[in-house]
Amino acid sequence: MSVMSGCGPILYLGGEFVPAATATVSVDDRGFQFADGCYEVTLVVEGCCIALDRHLARLQRTLDTLRIEFDAATLAPIHHDLIERNELADVALASIYVQITRGVAPRAHAFPVGAAPTVLVRAQEIAGPSRSMIEQGSRAITAVDIRWGRVDLKTTGLLPNVLAQQAAHEAGVDDVILHRDGVVTEGSHTNVFAVIDGVVVTAPADHRILPGVVRAVVIESAVAAGIAIDEREWTLDELSAADEVFMTSTTAGARPIVEVDGRPVGDGHRGPVTTRLQQLYAAFVAAERTR
Ligand code: PDD
Repeated sequence: MSVMSGCGPILYLGGEFVPAATATVSVDDRGFQFADGCYEVTLVVEGCCIALDRHLARLQRTLDTLRIEFDAATLAPIHHDLIERNELADVALASIYVQITRGVAPRAHAFPVGAAPTVLVRAQEIAGPSRSMIEQGSRAITAVDIRWGRVDLKTTGLLPNVLAQQAAHEAGVDDVILHRDGVVTEGSHTNVFAVIDGVVVTAPADHRILPGVVRAVVIESAVAAGIAIDEREWTLDELSAADEVFMTSTTAGARPIVEVDGRPVGDGHRGPVTTRLQQLYAAFVAAERTR
C-alpha cells in the first residue's frame, strides 16, 4: 500500500499536514467560486520528483501573472515530506498535485483585500501510461479549441479541456487534438508534436499553449541529439499528412498518436523519431533520479 497504514492519505492544506479524509475547503474559496487559482502536477518516480525546479518555476510565473502572492519555492520540501508521509518512496509512479487559489472571501469579482491564498498539495500513486499506449499508441479526434486567450497560464479553469476530453471519450478514443481556425494548438492535457518531412514540428510556446515541462525537455533533448525541431504554427492539413504524431505530458511522458479522426498517421504505427524521443525522455528521467 502507498498510504500510511491506518491513517489514509495525508495532504498539505492551509499550512499543515492533515488526513485527506477530514480536509475541507470553504464554499467561499475563490477557486470554487471563480476558478481563481492555478495548479501544477509533478511526476514522482520511486520517490524522486522529476523536474521539480521547472514545475515550481512555471507555477511561480502563473502566480505572478495572476498576482497571487506566494513563493512557490517553499513547496519543494513539502513535496518531499508528502512522499515520506504517504510512503511513496518505493512506489513506481506517483504524482504531486498543487493547487493555489486567491483564497476565501465573500463572492465579489475584484481581488479581495487581505485574503491569504489557499494552498493544497497532495500526493498519490498513479498507474502511468500502459505499455500499449507507449508502444502501440493511441487514437485521437480533432476539436475546436474554445479556451481563453491565456492558456500559457496553468489555471484551474479547465472546462473547455474537460468538454474536449469528454468528446474524445464519447468518440471512443483516448485523446483530442485542439485547433484554432485550423492551426493546431495542443491536447486537452498534453502538448502535440508531428514529424513532417523529417522535422519535428510543434506549436510555439506563446499564449495559445501551455509550455509543457515534458515538451521543453523533449525539445532540448532533440536539439542535443541533432534531431531537427521547428517551433512554428502548423495546421490540420499538415497533421493529416504527418509521418508521425506524438503527445507529451508529465504523467504519461511522450507517447505516439497513430490515428487521427479515423485515419492512420503514417503507416499507423509508432515511428522511429517518436521512439528515439521516448528514449531520450527516459534518459532525462533516469538522470533526474540521480541528481
Ligand atoms: N496537464 N497542455 C495542457 C493543456 C496541459 O494541461 C498539460 C499538463 C500539458 C503538458 O504539460 P507538462 O508536460 O508540463 O505536464 C500541456 C497536467 C498533467 C494535468 O492537467 O493533469
